[in-house]
Amino acid sequence: MSVSTAAVDQSVCAPLSVLGRDVTVPLVTGGDVTHAALDYAASAPALQRVWDDVAAYAPYYGSVHRGAGYLSQLSTDLFENARATVAEFLDCRTSDQVVFTRSTTDSLNLLAAVLPADCQVFVFETEHHASLLPWRGARVTCLDAPRTPHEAVETLERALAGRDPHGPALVCVTGASNVTGELWPVRDLATAAHAHGARIVLDAAQLAPHHPVSVRDLDVDWVAFSGHKLYAPFGSGVLAGRADWLQQAEPYLAGGGASRKVTRREDGGVSVEWHESAARHEAGSPNVIGAYAIASACKALTEAGFDTLVAREQHLIEKVRAGLAEVPEVRVLSLFGEDAPRVGVLSFVVEGWNSSHFAAALSAEYGIGVRDGLFCAHPLLRTLLGTDPQTQGECGAPEAAPGEKSLNAIRVSFGAGTPDEHVERFVTAVRELITNGAKWTYRTEGGRCVPAV
Ligand code: ALA
Repeated sequence: MSVSTAAVDQSVCAPLSVLGRDVTVPLVTGGDVTHAALDYAASAPALQRVWDDVAAYAPYYGSVHRGAGYLSQLSTDLFENARATVAEFLDCRTSDQVVFTRSTTDSLNLLAAVLPADCQVFVFETEHHASLLPWRGARVTCLDAPRTPHEAVETLERALAGRDPHGPALVCVTGASNVTGELWPVRDLATAAHAHGARIVLDAAQLAPHHPVSVRDLDVDWVAFSGHKLYAPFGSGVLAGRADWLQQAEPYLAGGGASRKVTRREDGGVSVEWHESAARHEAGSPNVIGAYAIASACKALTEAGFDTLVAREQHLIEKVRAGLAEVPEVRVLSLFGEDAPRVGVLSFVVEGWNSSHFAAALSAEYGIGVRDGLFCAHPLLRTLLGTDPQTQGECGAPEAAPGEKSLNAIRVSFGAGTPDEHVERFVTAVRELITNGAKWTYRTEGGRCVPAV
């Protein structure tokens, strides 16, 4: 993850072309405006390149691993080439397997399903639910939120020191927080895990779209990410890494594609020999378009160059941070300190405002799409807010009077397709809403704030 953040000439560093950049949305106050998509951390828009590649392939679509026809052969090649492209993008070891899944959540549930018996799992409470919750069958130790990257490593080392070093153990850690955007010390955590005989899986859902991820450099055992956050929203995700636990376990899904040989037993039952390749965990017809889209995004980001992408994103982060810093009512949420290295994800609370109300006004009055609430990371929000969080507040009535604690937060997130105008509009809107108040009235509907008319 060695990426230079040195200033670059912004004129040679335009945003990548994404779908939706010309889409206009109505304002409740009248007129239309181009939509400012500032919720990349939930779902990033498709890269134009990904869309074009998928459209060019679509007429040739065919079944994967199960057809004699030309288009089936072509689709099978495309699917397997996508696997190779992802392995290259992640700088995998030659012995690693790349399994196509539906999403990061699916990837981590797959890994949870193949854990050896009696595996201990260590996770920080700061993880989002996709990496906090899948380990229900294992002995889970949930670690307190650290306040520095160094404290994260110390906390993990202390927890691992007390375990039986011969038993299997797994550490699951995010590369970049989906709430604060802060980068986690993945390489050091991997060193600590391995020193104590544990393995580590990197949740790169928020990291891979923003930074290069090298399985070898980071020395992680597995990495998981989602296509829909990597500009490839066609229903695929990835789990890549060590083959042994994957090969030794029962398939995640039982069915065609995962099985090599199926026979009828004399006792009337059925015997199965499962594949040992990635296909073992890809039963059913593979999502070739989803896999191809991810491979296309990997190539597009690599060709654009992460040095360039990171430099541009840092430029946007600085704009947002500088803008919010001028508004005393705004508190940016942070574990490691406001100056900690981060990706383009920032959450904040506004004194005196219900976050849902604020987010609704950003959308209805400025055409800006952000996320509000607890971001599928309830324990982390509890730590950051210092109170019992709630997914929604009552609209219209400020949930946090001046001096009171907020019950949920607002998140702005962006990336390779974000033009400067979107973050500039966002900063202006935050300032205007706080200074002048909302122009419209809002009501609660289905637990969300919506314009009253
Ligand atoms: N983890 C995703 C998000 O933060 C769902 O929006």
